[in-house]
Amino acid sequence: MTGAKVTIVGAGRVGASAAYALQLGSTCRELVLVDVASDLARGEAMDLMHGRAIAGGPCIAAGDYDAARGSDLVIVTAGLRRRPDESRLELIERNVTLFRTIIRELKEAGAGDAVLLVVTNPVDVLTYLAAVELGWPRERTIGLGTALDTLRFRSLLGERLGLDPARIDALIIGEHGDSMVPLLSAARYEGRPLASAPGYSEQAVREAVEATRRAGAEVLRLKGGAGYAVGLAVREVSAAILNEAPAALPVSTVHDAGELAGVALSLPTRVGRRGVKEVVRPQMAEGEHRALIDSAEVLRKTIARVMASA
Ligand code: NAI
Repeated sequence: MTGAKVTIVGAGRVGASAAYALQLGSTCRELVLVDVASDLARGEAMDLMHGRAIAGGPCIAAGDYDAARGSDLVIVTAGLRRRPDESRLELIERNVTLFRTIIRELKEAGAGDAVLLVVTNPVDVLTYLAAVELGWPRERTIGLGTALDTLRFRSLLGERLGLDPARIDALIIGEHGDSMVPLLSAARYEGRPLASAPGYSEQAVREAVEATRRAGAEVLRLKGGAGYAVGLAVREVSAAILNEAPAALPVSTVHDAGELAGVALSLPTRVGRRGVKEVVRPQMAEGEHRALIDSAEVLRKTIARVMASA
């Protein structure tokens, strides 16, 4: 277990699942849950602590924003859900307003030494907003980005191809959203090209790509929103940050130069206690590269609209 302190803002479905995953992974020493619904945060912290005699792991407590002071990592999962009659853009605007209040609270709480991990959607847009408006060094804002999509993709490829997903190496980059880019050209099974794996079929891979793209909407339709898998994705990224893991993970960061300048989106990235260490440009086929540029363009438009509303 690292000696780290982690604060999760938002103790709803995603926040609670992330807290449980962090507890079972013994990722930190101290875990604080902050939610405007303070009884919910207290209840979740209490429930998790009741399992500590078996789970081990961190001391977990509910607190207000002041309790975030001294955190090594702050994970923001607080968000609003779409109203039945609401457009996607209206929801974005409400979540942006909410996110700005959270940024202000974190600044006032003196959590300025932490790495910020943004999970709330639209995650790439809010990662950009936080990196620009938080006033902390930019490399200390990281979005969960396509970490969940990548986890889903590997699991679904394993299911469709009859392979152990833990041995599949495959990445999704770009937007956490419809324009996500699966890097099929670089996919591997046990270190060899996926196309040479036993039982490989192009049709099954196409199905896995489509199922990954639809996964978020499908889980939302069936049970109201993602929880377990996103909790594990948060744990994977948190552990990499706190333990300075050498592996590059697909997380969202602000890009300053070249064709991706002015957007936050996911590329394989090495992270650590000070945030982003290195963004790795993956090998891409020409079509994948073009799709990445298109994904950046989709995000650039939304980011421009959101930043103009400041
Ligand atoms: P939820 O409605 O269950 O929980 C949200 C929580 O935020 C609520 O408990 C609410 O009281 C709290 N909250 C609202 N305003 C707050 C504030 N100012 N300070 C502190 N807490 C506040 O929603 P759920 O299902 O947990 O989703 C949360 C967010 O995570 C959504 O934006 C969702 O789209 C996003 N998400 C992101 C994923 C990713 O891969 N990046 C995957 C799944 C969900």
